[in-house]
Amino acid sequence: MAEYETHSYDVLVIGAGGAGLRAAIEAANAGVSVGLVCKSLLGKAHTVMAEGGIAAALANTDDRDSWQTHFADTMRGGQYLNNWRMVEHHAREAPERVRELEAWGAVFDRTPDGRILQRNFGGHKYPRLAHVGDRTGLEILRTLQDHVIHQQVDVNMECTIVSLLREGDRIAGALAYDRERGRFKLFMAGAVVLATGGTGRAYRITSNSWEYTGDGQSLAYNAGAALQDMEFVQFHPTGMVWPPSVRGILVTEGVRGEGGILVNNQGHRFMFDDIPENYRSQTADNEEEGWRYTQGDKSARRPPELLTRDHVARCIMREVREGRGSPHGGVFLDISWIRTKLPDAEAHIKRKLPGMYHQFKQLADIDITKEPMEVGPTTHYAMGGIRVDGDTQMSTIPGLFAAGECAAGLHGANRLGGNSLSDLLVFGKRAGEHAAIFAKEHPPGAPDPESVDAIANHALEPFGRHGEGADGPYQVQHDLQGMMQELVGIVRREDEMRKALDGLAGLRARAARVAVPGNREYNPGWHTALDLANLLAISEAITRSALERKESRGGHFRDDYPAKDPAYAHFNIVVTRGSNGEMNVTRVPFPEIRDDLKQIIEEET
Ligand code: FUM
Repeated sequence: MAEYETHSYDVLVIGAGGAGLRAAIEAANAGVSVGLVCKSLLGKAHTVMAEGGIAAALANTDDRDSWQTHFADTMRGGQYLNNWRMVEHHAREAPERVRELEAWGAVFDRTPDGRILQRNFGGHKYPRLAHVGDRTGLEILRTLQDHVIHQQVDVNMECTIVSLLREGDRIAGALAYDRERGRFKLFMAGAVVLATGGTGRAYRITSNSWEYTGDGQSLAYNAGAALQDMEFVQFHPTGMVWPPSVRGILVTEGVRGEGGILVNNQGHRFMFDDIPENYRSQTADNEEEGWRYTQGDKSARRPPELLTRDHVARCIMREVREGRGSPHGGVFLDISWIRTKLPDAEAHIKRKLPGMYHQFKQLADIDITKEPMEVGPTTHYAMGGIRVDGDTQMSTIPGLFAAGECAAGLHGANRLGGNSLSDLLVFGKRAGEHAAIFAKEHPPGAPDPESVDAIANHALEPFGRHGEGADGPYQVQHDLQGMMQELVGIVRREDEMRKALDGLAGLRARAARVAVPGNREYNPGWHTALDLANLLAISEAITRSALERKESRGGHFRDDYPAKDPAYAHFNIVVTRGSNGEMNVTRVPFPEIRDDLKQIIEEET
């Protein structure tokens, strides 16, 4: 048997972004021992990329807001494929989670009378996003981090999980390696919470950093858990497009929330050209009304730039495809135009969007107070992920929980901006609470030593491969990202996705031959080689699910089935691993929505 550093916890939390931290806090408060594992250093998480705010119906900026309106907005944004129970919990509990965060030290922007200020975001009927300039995710992460280090939580940084471990049906722990020394760590646990974030690195253009290779989704799938809604990938409408080295970096929706407009190379504000029927009554039909809305005029309707992300991203793609794009393949996002409206526009922009001001100044030499930005869609978020119970966040494996982006259900076919941060807090807390309950009844498992050895030996195989036929892990990753971007991206078709499945089979064969030079100490090539298995699994799940959904809905758009089909409105597409390792795709109907919730939707729509 190989040597392992062994740890035993009641609850093991994998991932230290907002959801993982909030789960760890809750579990520790329940009096169980907690281990926290993060792939990077503590504090580096995609949570910071939710810049513009956290959605919660506090009703501070507009007293017409309520949990019911937030519920209805989220269901409509998700095109009614959402797990309605989760949407209910989320809308009801988000305000309390925000206030709690404030009590823990988060410093939100303020209304003149000292309450938490809220801003407009796409798909939210009222200004609902509590924010800290355009660095909200960062402030939330900082606050949670400060809080967690005062709990009895054992933090394992720069530690990557290679496999979950089971004992019979239930979860028993996980095997990991530490990046610095390349040694294995064996975690034994009563319950495990996955909070590993998204899958953006399956694509070439993304706001996600290197860590987001679908680890949690793939680990859960390989352990036997079900995934759902994997076809729904969110392409945020506004990422940087120039210079090439920064392509994909997020440009917060907060820019549009503060009055930023989208124009094509003819100076035309194209978002007015295509307003979906179900949002028509809520959307302004002229510039003046849209501006008045952003200034808090309650009689005005929102500007079309604040339609949902799936729609805005497709409108931008249409402009680019039809030759009306910006020089580097995007469109123009202009906040500087508000100089015609506000005498102190320059100071206002710098105050409201300090991060964007510096980002464009430093990375693109653009002064956003004076010039428009060039932007285009960037892969940002996975609506799909691990299938969980809507109350407890437990997956289909007893003792394995999931929260945040790696879990599915809350957002349905499309996520509203700002709902990710509230998701992390609401369901991180729930996952931590229920994992602790489970762990109190189930002591840490005892994984089978032979299986652990086999997993460790398999992970070391890239070091033993040399000579002809060996491939480099970076090249395989690069080719995978390019293929997914081109064939399973923002606009999809059957023939292209079939080609992608063939391509994935070829990439899998190459991944099985990747060779890594050097030794185990801090070897990024080895880490990239190990990440490949996760990227391949989730890319296949995305592609197979997207083939199965022969319609267009939310983040999933098919050129060959461009309309929404009511026949696809009553089930989720679920992916599981078959006994021979094959990927099974099934349609699983979801329960009828409760009558009182149905009534809320009818009243609010
Ligand atoms: O645009 C943004 O600030 C992103 C927010 C989010 O993804 O929730």
